[in-house]
Amino acid sequence: MPAPPADETNRVADDPRAVRLGHLLFFDPGLSGAGDISCATCHDPERAFTDGRPVGVGRGEGRRNTPTVIDSAHQRWFTWDGRADSAWAQATGPLEHPDEMAGSRVAIVRQLVGDPVLRAVYEDLFGPLPEVAGLPAAGRPVPAQPQHPHQRAWAGLDGDRRRQVDRVFVNVAKALAAYQRRLVSGPSAFDDFVSALRREDASAARSLSASAQRGLSLFLGRAGCRRCHFGPTLSDGEFHNTGAPPRRMADADDAGRYEGARLLLASPFHAAGEFSDDRDGARAATLRTLRQSPETWGEFRTPSLRHVALTAPYMHAGQLPDLRAVLRFYSTLEGALAVNHHGETVLTPFALSDAETDDLVAFLESLTGGAVPNAWRTPPSRP
Ligand code: HEC
Ligand code: HEC
Repeated sequence: MPAPPADETNRVADDPRAVRLGHLLFFDPGLSGAGDISCATCHDPERAFTDGRPVGVGRGEGRRNTPTVIDSAHQRWFTWDGRADSAWAQATGPLEHPDEMAGSRVAIVRQLVGDPVLRAVYEDLFGPLPEVAGLPAAGRPVPAQPQHPHQRAWAGLDGDRRRQVDRVFVNVAKALAAYQRRLVSGPSAFDDFVSALRREDASAARSLSASAQRGLSLFLGRAGCRRCHFGPTLSDGEFHNTGAPPRRMADADDAGRYEGARLLLASPFHAAGEFSDDRDGARAATLRTLRQSPETWGEFRTPSLRHVALTAPYMHAGQLPDLRAVLRFYSTLEGALAVNHHGETVLTPFALSDAETDDLVAFLESLTGGAVPNAWRTPPSRP
């Protein structure tokens, strides 16, 4: 993979001290409410940084499938509904979500202050941590639930204290993003094939099996996959409604991008907000024209297809168990939800023979890149 694009909204994105802090934090269950869940619980390095489950399970059961974080720094929008516009804004979510790590930003400040290793790395990078005297044990904004103990504790802090806590919370998230930028895969069989073709190297044909080459032709041609899956991650980075049938009826009301856009615009952590290091940059400019529009109801971000063979089950709610099921869905549109609000058809069925299905699977398998270096797949040593 090429190096990920710069993220100017995070001034420590490429600072090795931030990478070290983020590496420590990614594997640290101490950030969670009960001290038992880390980012790596769901983004398990031994499963290509996913969990093999239909939907993520932390303190509770979520509604969405856990995507890999390998090569995720290439994303323009984060999560299936794009409710975050940077990797650091994304990281603020799971830390506090009641179904994920169920932590709170006040407790996270306490955790950093109380851990001499984290404290030293943090302060070297960001300067002194705030005093914890007078801070409650836990607290975070939960405006929709005025009686929630976290909200009451948060409301009890004055504006200056809240800003100090928010600043540490954001710095933690920026360090997590810096670490995740290092999770880059090595070249896949498909990359070798493409670069050999570019060099006009006659041995090119051998880096991709004949079956995978036939699959590639289908992908680019009759199957129409290229319309949305292109570029370095095989994703256009945008949102579409494929109508993939839900696993449980209860999930059929997931509004996807419609709700994601609302959450993004309301987030204090977006690219144009006070915690961004590039409030007038390109990411912030995109945000100024973003609207919550009804036609995006039920749309989800086109996922990267890098390592897709390693990240079953598939789609935003993990509703399809394997790649064959995905191809069966695309080729028949069996069970598709009435596609799109206006009845506009995004996809059209195309009959795939069994042999063609094998070829497309072989092509998708050729997108598995070389493993992320071992040093990044294991927790860092602590002095
Ligand atoms: C309980 C399981 C769980 C935990 C714990 C968890 N995640 Fe996730 N992660 C998910 C799920 C599920 C999604 C998709 C969320 C959605 O689309 O609504 C996700 C999405 C992401 C994404 C977006 C990837 C993309 O392609 O858009 C990143 C990055 C990420 N998580 C990083 C982290 C970090 C950093 C932590 C720790 C602070 C973390 N996650 C903790 C389950 C988890
Ligand atoms: C109209 C745009 C579009 C087209 C055309 C398209 N896809 Fe997708 N693809 C998506 C979107 C959006 C999702 C996520 C859908 C969801 O979660 O509900 C997706 C999901 C997938 C997934 C699941 C990946 C994961 O990590 O869960 C695979 C595999 C996939 N597509 C392969 C293909 C193939 C192969 C083709 C051609 C037969 C194709 N796609 C055509 C937009 C498209």
